[in-house]
Amino acid sequence: MQIRYLSHASFQLTGKGGTVLIDPFFSGNAMAPVTAQDFDGVSAILITHGHHDHIGDTVEIAKRSGAVVVCIPEIATWLRRQGLENFCAMNLGGTATFPWGSAKMVPALHSSGVSSPEGVLEGGVCCGYLIKMDGLTVYHAGDTALTMEFTLLQGQGIDVALLPIGGHYTMDPTDAARAAAMIGPRIAVPMHYNTFPVVQVDPQDFARQVPPEIAVEIWSVGQVREFPSD
Ligand code: NI
Ligand code: MN
Repeated sequence: MQIRYLSHASFQLTGKGGTVLIDPFFSGNAMAPVTAQDFDGVSAILITHGHHDHIGDTVEIAKRSGAVVVCIPEIATWLRRQGLENFCAMNLGGTATFPWGSAKMVPALHSSGVSSPEGVLEGGVCCGYLIKMDGLTVYHAGDTALTMEFTLLQGQGIDVALLPIGGHYTMDPTDAARAAAMIGPRIAVPMHYNTFPVVQVDPQDFARQVPPEIAVEIWSVGQVREFPSD
């Protein structure tokens, strides 16, 4: 299978059973290497929370591809009003199984209002995802602060942890390195940085602070990382 980094918190996971997008934020994102029009065959879109840089282009991509949208019920309610119909609305602790693998919704410590023309709407709570696909276990942290919740992920066999490092809205490189130490993944990958001026950081600053037994991989935007499938 492969994982493609699409900038910010956006990733594309492609496996034997389908293609999954996480937090597809391309419109209004100067770093995005793709547009919503590039995606037709999408199996699922996973949303971590209601902020615009995470819901992103979900409406357009889901409409053109028919992808099931995995999210918290409050965000599903809002997206239903935008014309989407195909949801897997679950909540923290839930796991859903699909032809391409499974996704478990896990806690993240952050806010989740949905900006709309009527003002900021209730977006439920934020989450991360523990995703299993073709024998690989991937953790996408969403937007989060450093939290004791990370200790619950230890021993879960996480191969790849995608961690926000940009600070200001989320963990900074130092806190993200502490998160990596608490989770203990095989590989730690920084995300959610250098997209906007307030999240400018040096990913090497993260890499330097991660314990040596964890491999840090700094993926460039648009890069595709191949993993051997089971
Ligand atoms: Ni956010
Ligand atoms: Mn964000």
